Amino acid sequence: MKILHIDCSPRKASQSRKLSIAMMDRLLSKYPNARILRRDLGQYPIPHLDADYAVALCSSQSSITSPEKTFSLSEQLIHELEDADIIVLGTPVNNFTVPSVLKAWFDQILRMGRTIGVTDSGEKVGLLKDLPVYIGIASGGIFLGKDAKQPDFMTSYMKVAFNCMGIRNVHFLPLQGTAFLDSVELDMQREQLVLSMDVEAATCK
Ligand SMILES: Cc1cc2nc3c(=O)[nH]c(=O)nc-3n(C[C@H](O)[C@H](O)[C@H](O)COP(=O)(O)O)c2cc1C
Repeated sequence: MKILHIDCSPRKASQSRKLSIAMMDRLLSKYPNARILRRDLGQYPIPHLDADYAVALCSSQSSITSPEKTFSLSEQLIHELEDADIIVLGTPVNNFTVPSVLKAWFDQILRMGRTIGVTDSGEKVGLLKDLPVYIGIASGGIFLGKDAKQPDFMTSYMKVAFNCMGIRNVHFLPLQGTAFLDSVELDMQREQLVLSMDVEAATCK
């Protein structure tokens, strides 16, 4: 059993980091021998896609002169996904959606012909194995539920992004209102979210 643990906040004292650590603890109590693979996009951001990569994505595979070099980061990140049995992801909401470090990650792993295929009739099909993804989200305001004061481009975007690679077992744990909840309320919310985790969705490997 391998768990890929991803964080996206640039802040060390971050609510999404605290949440993802608590989610990891819950899973590790179920799978104490699990190996942890780490990708900290907040502390060690990956670069945005460059010209070579953008051109290559829009070209036929045979016309790319040095695919190993062009796709090396993309391949590394996709291998991390393929190696994992569970993903735990902690992320803030930034300007209604995912932070740019996480978008840069999706830009590297969403690749036609590698993680996404197309049927004869033009439908997209995911090429990765399905696996449980637990996404802990910290937002300053409220973006989900009846009290939402802003649109949700966060869960809608991530659901489509994972689904189109074939990853459908996606669970969102939103810790909302970090701008106005005090530390006791934040701790309580985090505890409740972690207790609500559907850990049975992570089948034992
Ligand atoms: C650049 C930036 C943009 C933000 N945009 C939003 C937003 O659109 N909606 C929201 O509810 N909170 C927004 N926030 C607040 C963060 O989501 C909130 O502070 C969250 O707790 C940050 O996550 P962290 O504690 O893990 O760093 C924004 C914060 C920053 C720094």
